[in-house]
This record gives sequence, C-alpha cells and structure tokens, in this order.
Amino acid sequence: MKALTWHGSGDIRCEQVDDPIIQDDRDAIIRVTSCAICGSDLHLYGGFVPGMHAGDVMGHETMGEVVEVGRGNSKLKVGDRVVVPFTISCGECRMCKWNLFALCERSNPSGKEQAKQIGYPTAGLFGYSETYGRFPGGQAEYLRIPYADVGPIKVPGGLTDDQVLFLSDIFPTGYMAAENCDIQPGQTVAVFGCRPVGLFAIKSAFLLGAERVIAVDNVPERLALARASGAETLDYTDADLQQRIIDMTNGLGPDAVIEAVGMESHGTGGVMETLQSKFSSTERPYALQQAILACRPGGIVSIPGVFVGSAVTAPLGAFVGKGLTLRTGQTHVQRYLEPLMAMIADGRIDPSFIITHRIGLEDGPEAYKTFRDKTDGCVKVVIRPHG
Ligand SMILES: NC(=O)c1ccc[n+]([C@@H]2O[C@H](COP(=O)([O-])OP(=O)(O)OC[C@H]3O[C@@H](n4cnc5c(N)ncnc54)[C@H](O)[C@@H]3O)[C@@H](O)[C@H]2O)c1
Ligand SMILES: [Zn+2]
Ligand SMILES: [Zn+2]
Repeated sequence: MKALTWHGSGDIRCEQVDDPIIQDDRDAIIRVTSCAICGSDLHLYGGFVPGMHAGDVMGHETMGEVVEVGRGNSKLKVGDRVVVPFTISCGECRMCKWNLFALCERSNPSGKEQAKQIGYPTAGLFGYSETYGRFPGGQAEYLRIPYADVGPIKVPGGLTDDQVLFLSDIFPTGYMAAENCDIQPGQTVAVFGCRPVGLFAIKSAFLLGAERVIAVDNVPERLALARASGAETLDYTDADLQQRIIDMTNGLGPDAVIEAVGMESHGTGGVMETLQSKFSSTERPYALQQAILACRPGGIVSIPGVFVGSAVTAPLGAFVGKGLTLRTGQTHVQRYLEPLMAMIADGRIDPSFIITHRIGLEDGPEAYKTFRDKTDGCVKVVIRPHG
C-alpha cells in the first residue's frame, strides 16, 4: 500500500510499504477514507522527537471502513465506519479503568524503556516514534488498529468524514484542555495558539461556560478564525502583550490559560530565538512562559501543547508565587468520543470549520511543508488516500 513515511527532519515521502495484517485477535484493519496532518506531526517533521526511524509510517488522526476483524473482537464488523483515537488503550489496566486512556499501562511495547526516562509507561500512540511503541500510523491506505474492541467509535449514518474525523485527536484535545480549566460562569480564559487545538479549545471554553476568551497568535487567518469563534484576539509578538491582557481583564488577568502551542513556539524574535528556530531542534518554550505570566494568581494553566525534553525553562517562580495549578497530558480521547459525537450529531458544533486543504497521499510531502511554513492560509490538511 501507499503511505507517508518519515526519513529525517524535513523529509516525508509517499512510498510503498507492507500492507498491515491482523496480529492479535482483538485487532481490526481499516481502509482509510480520511486522515489529517496534526501539529504534533510537525514535531516529528522538525526532528524534535527522538526514536523515529527511516521509513516509519506517519499519522494519528484517522478514520475509515473496517475491512478485517480479529477473531476475538466482537465489537466491530466488516463494513463499519469508525473514527480511531490516536491513543491506543487496552481498556483493562488500572489507568484505563480510571478513564486515563492516554496512560494505559499495557499498550506501549516500549513502556519499559519509557519508564526509565519518566518513571512509568504511558499508552502507545499511532505513528509517534519508538518511545510510543512504533505503531505504524494512519497517513496510509490501510491501518491496523490494536485493541480495536476498545478505541474506535462507530459513526452514525448521515455524518460526513469531515464532521467526525477530528474526534480522533484535536477536538477532544481542545475540549479536554478547556475542561481542565474548571471554567465557572463569568470567567475569562486565554488561549495561546490558534491553530486546530487552540481553535477547538476556544469553542470548547464557550461550550463549557466561559464568558470571554482571549486568543493569542500572530497569523491573521488564524486570528480571524478565533474571532469567528467568539474570541477577542491579541498578537504574541506585541511587546506589551502582558499589559494588554491585564488591561482587557480589568487588572485581574484570565482565570485560566491554555497553552496550545507546544515546543516550537515563537516569542518576540530575539537573536537566540532566531538561531534556535533556524539551526537547531531545540525546544522553544516561549508560549509556555507567556502563558504562565498571563495567568491570574490562583488560576489554572492547562497545557495540551506537547513537550518532550527536560531542558525547557519555565518561570517556576511565577508559578509558585501566584499559586497556580498545572493540568496537562496527552488526551484521554476515548473518554470524549461519545459525548462529542453527540454534540456533532446535534449540530452544536461542526468541526469541519478548520479544514483549509484537501489532498491525496501523493501530495502529502508538499502539504507537510505548507502546513509547517504557514503558507497558503493553511490551518488543517485532510488527506483522502483513496481519492
Ligand atoms: N496533548 C495532546 O494530546 C495533543 C494532541 C494534539 C496536539 N497537541 C499539541 O498541541 C499543540 C498545538 O497543535 P496544533 O495542531 O493546534 O497547532 P500547531 O502546532 O500547528 O500551531 C501552533 C500555533 O501556535 C502559534 N504560536 C507560536 N508561538 C506562539 C506564542 N508565543 N503565542 C501564541 N501562539 C503562538 C503558531 O503561530 C501556530 O498557529 C502542538 O504542540 C501539538 O503537538 C497535543
Ligand atoms: Zn495530533
Ligand atoms: Zn490500559
């Protein structure tokens, strides 16, 4: 089959790889009808994530039609249309029982190695390096789904791929980021980053009762989408950013702040930052720093943005001084599938508003470049591997 594969920093190829086969009784294989490129894929593309191997199949936002089911899987049958969470979870371990699906103790074959670095194993992820189990990803014609009797959700008839595809990751991710803010009526939330995760965080903050959302980015079309979702917007390169946030909130500051940018953020553009972004894959925590500074005393900092290393410098003094609460993590996608599918079916939200580009697999390598370089108004790329 054809798939998008990783071959080093800035080098994604569309090439032939082996077709997936059933390896366990609980598996299923889908014919991928739609998949997408995520901001998290850019961290792999930029060479920020260790443990990638040449030829690894990319992608973790995927849906399709079931074409084969393992003998032990009674949940799915051939012909079902499913969306696949990016987190692979067994459904039986302690973490899965507590609905902490992204922390599944069993699904990551590299869990022992990972535990040497962070103390414990976490869930396997599709297309996201050896650290997360080296599972082939879903930017491909077909995908093998391990524990397919736990993760995938069937799509009710009448809903299009465009409406439901983002249940695989970014809609639940934005939603969990907002839920982590414990929003009370009348509160204000600031969201750093207005690409897919940030945009879904803005929508979700309003759905969860926020009165105001202040959205921060510097790309005009993204700020326009944020405004269309009801947010007031600011530019992160503005040297007076912090004062503006304080002024907009009558001196109090936002009750919660969502950092939806992650390790490749930009700041006001000093020499160090320019060197870092041009010549190395060093994590850049500028948005994290801005978010912590912006949060009001006693507030919550919610971080869906991804970081991998230990070299990130965060203003812990401000954190402790203001008595902030930190909430973060990979999204426990399975927890959100049913309620968010219901919201889509009810018409309370149509996630397809973020799609700007539709392509075939062959155009994938070029689309990675466009997505990374923020050219051509690119917010979200959807790939249809079979046309
Ligand atoms: N926790 C999870 O499970 C999970 C799931 C999906 C994505 N993510 C992560 O969420 C983050 C966002 O992903 P994405 O796909 O929305 O977008 P992205 O990474 O493509 O975009 C990030 C946005 O942040 C903006 N930005 C850069 N510096 C900024 C700053 N200082 N202040 C404000 N905005 C700034 C950029 O202009 C861009 O629009 C990534 O780190 C991604 O890996 C996490
Ligand atoms: Zn993702
Ligand atoms: Zn588990």
